Amino acid sequence: MELLTTALQAEQWRRRQAGKTIGFVPTMGALHRGHLSLVERACKENDAAVVSIFVNPLQFNDPADLEHYPRTLDADLTLLNKTPCSAVFAPTPAEMYPVPDRRVWDFGGLDSVMEGRCRSGHFNGVAQAVSRLFEILPASRAYFGEKDFQQLAIVRRLVEMLTLPIEIVGCPIVRDTDGLAMSSRNALLTPPERAAAPIIARTLFAAVDMVCTHSIDAIRQFVIGAINACPLMQLEYFEIVDGRTLQPVLSWSSEGRKRACIAVRMGGVRLIDNVPM
Ligand code: PAF
Repeated sequence: MELLTTALQAEQWRRRQAGKTIGFVPTMGALHRGHLSLVERACKENDAAVVSIFVNPLQFNDPADLEHYPRTLDADLTLLNKTPCSAVFAPTPAEMYPVPDRRVWDFGGLDSVMEGRCRSGHFNGVAQAVSRLFEILPASRAYFGEKDFQQLAIVRRLVEMLTLPIEIVGCPIVRDTDGLAMSSRNALLTPPERAAAPIIARTLFAAVDMVCTHSIDAIRQFVIGAINACPLMQLEYFEIVDGRTLQPVLSWSSEGRKRACIAVRMGGVRLIDNVPM
C-alpha cells in the first residue's frame, strides 16, 4: 500500500492507474469497522482502491470539535495495510487548499435542514473537501456511509452539479453489537455515556415498529420522550424526512421513501443516526 501525502504524489499515483477502475473512500481517519466496510466494498468492486484521510478544518463550525476530533494515522495505516487497498492519501491542509477556497455552494435546500441547520457552514466545508479530493483523485466510484445520510444526499447533488462521472455508492450503517452506529466520535464518549448511547438506536428501532400504528407526530413525541428520559442525552433534532429531498414529512400518505434522522448531544460529543421508515 502506498502512502501519498502531496497532491502531486496522488495525481501521479492516479495516472499510473490509467485504464483501471478506481474505488475511492474519503474519510477523516480514526477508522472503524464502518469505514472498513466501505474499503472492502471499494476493493471488491474496482481494480484498485484508494482511501483519503484528512480532518477537514472547513467543515467544523465548532473549534473545540475540530481540536478534539480523534487523529490516529498510525493505527489507521496499520488497519488499511491489512486490506487490499492500493493507496492512502493523507494530505496536510496546505496540500488540500493551496489557495483559500471561497466557493459557496447552493444545495437547493438539502443543506438547510437537520445537520445544516445545527452546524452552519458544515456542508459547504464538506463540498469544498470532497470536490477537491475528486479533483486530485478522479475515481470511478466513491463510497460513503449512510450514517451521514444528509451528507450522502449532498455529495450526490455535488457530483451532479459538477457533472463528474463518479458513481456515488451509499453503504449501509455498521453497528456495534449493542446497536450503536459506528462513528469515530464514539471513542470520545465517557464510559457512562458509551453505556447509555445504544438508547439512540433502540429508540429508532422502536419508532420503526410504530410506523403502521402511529402518526408521525405520535412517533416524534415518543422519540423526544425516550431521549429526554436519559439524563446524559440532549436531543438536537429528530425528523422523519423524505429520503430524496430531506424535507420533513408530515403524514405517512405522502409518496417516496422516508428516513428517520436523529442527532443527540452527550456531553461534548454529538452523535447522529438514522433508519429507513
Ligand atoms: O464523512 C467524512 O468523513 C467527511 O465528511 C468527508 C466526506 C471525508 C469530507 O471531509
